[in-house]
Amino acid sequence: MPVLVNINGEFFPPEEAYVSVFDRGFLFGDGVYETARTYFGRPFLLDRHLARLQRSADRLWMPIPGGLHGLEHEIRRSLEAARNADSYLRIMVTRGSRPGFVNLDAATAGDGLIVIIVRPLEAFDPACYAEGVDVALVGVTRTGKRSLDPKIKSGNYLNNIIALHEARRQGAFECLMPNQDGYITEGSTSNVFLVKRGALRTPSLECGLLDGITRSFLFEIAAEAGYRIREEKLLPADVFDADEVFITSSLKEVMPVRSVSGRQVGDGRPGAVTRDLLERYRARAHREVGGEAAPTDPAGA
Ligand code: PDD
Repeated sequence: MPVLVNINGEFFPPEEAYVSVFDRGFLFGDGVYETARTYFGRPFLLDRHLARLQRSADRLWMPIPGGLHGLEHEIRRSLEAARNADSYLRIMVTRGSRPGFVNLDAATAGDGLIVIIVRPLEAFDPACYAEGVDVALVGVTRTGKRSLDPKIKSGNYLNNIIALHEARRQGAFECLMPNQDGYITEGSTSNVFLVKRGALRTPSLECGLLDGITRSFLFEIAAEAGYRIREEKLLPADVFDADEVFITSSLKEVMPVRSVSGRQVGDGRPGAVTRDLLERYRARAHREVGGEAAPTDPAGA
């Protein structure tokens, strides 16, 4: 079963994976989630993803049924059952439902719901890495830290969906959202980095953005490799002035950006620092999971 859905501990094929229309995740986006992946069939940085899931849930006063240990067990069981060479993982927890009720009050929710989707990992078009992608600065601002704090990875992604839509209308692959003060925050599902004179610059968390797992893992890799890294308040002018720009996420890894709102970045080709970091990132990811194919991996990838 390459696409497998685990709902509260039970496996379903995708066409039979349903949840209640009264589930608060469906009604209100009242849930939290993580997207992770495997390398060589083994989950990558799962502990960090689970820790962030817990932080998100805590910010919403939402219990995780069975706790993180139970959840990790279900994730590993699902991966084993799916038997994919490599998997995409979506781990969701909602506040649950009370059949027949539509009520914002969290006190009226029943038990939480856990959904784990496991799919064969689909690689991005190799051109994204060989040539870079186009991003667009959009007018839609990122939700403020004091409204729906972007550090909470909740199931409510409408802010990001609207911003991505605006970018796609401009023919771009990803958006860059400013905050209310005009400082750059992040993309719809990625963090952003600039390279200027060999040093890395990225929006600081105080600007209001998700503390990406890839972002912080890359801090470690870049520091080891001797790069200087600064978390800063960055303006669109800084992005246009950068020698290199790249975006990061668990799925995109380190993806070069070749243009921002139609303006070419550097010479329009993926820069040397970005390429170096992508290579180091993949090498570290492979090492982190154990460096070789898992014994259960049928494809031996
Ligand atoms: N998104 N910012 C936002 C808003 C995100 O949704 C994501 C990840 C990131 C990068 O975070 P990380 O490095 O932890 O993957 C930044 C995932 C991939 C998703 O929504 O599928």
